[in-house]
Amino acid sequence: MKFLTDIKSTFDSIVFEWDETKSNIQNVYEFINIFLKITDPYNKISTRILEHTMRTIKISERLLNKEIADKEIVIITLLLHDISKTVCENSHNLVSHRLAEILFEKYPYLDKKKKKILDCILYHSAKDLDSLDLTPEMKVVMDADILDEIGILLISRVCLRTHNKNLSIQELIKLLENKYNKVERELSYVKTKTGKEIYIQKKKKFKEYLDALKIESVEYKL
Ligand SMILES: [Fe+2]
Ligand SMILES: [Fe+2]
Repeated sequence: MKFLTDIKSTFDSIVFEWDETKSNIQNVYEFINIFLKITDPYNKISTRILEHTMRTIKISERLLNKEIADKEIVIITLLLHDISKTVCENSHNLVSHRLAEILFEKYPYLDKKKKKILDCILYHSAKDLDSLDLTPEMKVVMDADILDEIGILLISRVCLRTHNKNLSIQELIKLLENKYNKVERELSYVKTKTGKEIYIQKKKKFKEYLDALKIESVEYKL
């Protein structure tokens, strides 16, 4: 794949040095910020990627309060998992995986955890993989990623994406109903017990919003 070969020259063009006085997480965080600036100079999607990344880290911290998994592996995976979306949306898991591989080859500070991080990045979006084949870190990463896709944030995203399509409220409700049905079906993708609990809470908030919107849209109908 072209993106897989191109990513090495992109990496080589980046001015970045691992600072041993800082933590591995801090170093990777600084690397991704430089990578985003180089690969998306007009900030078409960088802010969105970074916001999503930081939210998934927050969610993972909530999950890690109850689930047992290596925090450093989870956080470094989340920092890197979607980073290559600036160069390739489809198959971004493969390109992010290759980018991380190059980064860890040049800076071998994560040696013992390297393989686990790389696997977590590679499979982060393989949501239908059986739980039995997954490490605890993979489960937390997948759940954090899924949990950021639902709830009130999902409603906001639908509204943002459709704001210039001039939809009627009834059309918006239809769209949101379709999204909600998808959210209902995808509960089975959540791998951890804590993830399922948070998912159900977020699903409930989505439903409450949708029901309230339906009531208001009828109340004010002429
Ligand atoms: Fe992803
Ligand atoms: Fe993601």
